[in-house]
Amino acid sequence: MAHPDRFLLAGVMGWPVMHSRSPVLHNYWFKHYGIAGTYVPLAIKPDGLAPALRALAPLGFAGTNLTIPHKEAALNIVDEVDPEAKRMGAISCVVVRPDATLIGTNNDGYGFVHSILQQVPDWRADAGPVAVIGAGGGARAVAYSLAERGAREIRLFNRTLARGQALEQEFGSPVKALPWEDRHAALADAAMLVNTTSQGMVGNPPLELVLDKLPASALVTDIVYIPLETPLLAAARRRGNRTVDGLGMLLHQARPAWKAWFGIDTEVTPELRRQVEATL
Ligand SMILES: NC(=O)c1ccc[n+]([C@@H]2O[C@H](COP(=O)([O-])OP(=O)(O)OC[C@H]3O[C@@H](n4cnc5c(N)ncnc54)[C@H](OP(=O)(O)O)[C@@H]3O)[C@@H](O)[C@H]2O)c1
Repeated sequence: MAHPDRFLLAGVMGWPVMHSRSPVLHNYWFKHYGIAGTYVPLAIKPDGLAPALRALAPLGFAGTNLTIPHKEAALNIVDEVDPEAKRMGAISCVVVRPDATLIGTNNDGYGFVHSILQQVPDWRADAGPVAVIGAGGGARAVAYSLAERGAREIRLFNRTLARGQALEQEFGSPVKALPWEDRHAALADAAMLVNTTSQGMVGNPPLELVLDKLPASALVTDIVYIPLETPLLAAARRRGNRTVDGLGMLLHQARPAWKAWFGIDTEVTPELRRQVEATL
């Protein structure tokens, strides 16, 4: 438990940042655990990232989360990047160490896996081929964590094939980058389907994907969480597939951050989920 005289501080840096649900999530935990502290949105322009990160220690922040557009740029600013974040090519969380140096970590893959495990406890990444749609930042965390959990074949479909191929080259086996137009047919023997594109998010059209060939036993997940049930998840649910929405990923990635910042173990409870859901 934190020192009773200390006021704990953390935040999220982004540009824009006011849409972030992270303050609701983290401030729920401060209140729930009866801890004096706060979590603030920090609107930081790209050219302000380095001075903002360097200001964390003198201001007494334990650390910060990073969101668009800072996740990659921070790699060249922090003093150390943990090996997982290096592999994913992005930092989602910065921790201020006692000597004021900064270490960058990435908890998005942890969030993705633990969200699924909370809702589907018998889920296994090595149950069969996994189809991943997209090759952006979210896809990197997803592909990394699936490979870590033993996935043997990750079929990666991205509108821009070259971006998928770059990910395949970096990650190596089991990632295979495949042409965008093959995505429908390649679902035939998939055990799992993950959308990591921004398609289906509020303001964007639905992901164009025909589910006809997907086995009814396959698990369908989306990392988009606004809306909570994307058109993809609704279509999957209607045809009998189990589904996991993207909100759990956001909630679970915050747990290792609290452990690193404050030394506190937190829980993702139905009440926390309801509180954040109410803001979507
Ligand atoms: N639940 C969570 O905790 C969590 C975490 C991270 C991200 N997300 C969500 O995941 C989504 C993607 O985020 P990101 O950071 O990975 O973004 P990103 O790095 O910008 O990648 C965007 C991806 O979407 C694809 N895409 C964009 N427009 C498309 C279109 N019209 N048709 C097909 N594909 C299209 C891109 O393909 P190209 O390469 O061809 O452009 C790329 O693969 C966002 O909605 C974000 O909010 C959620």
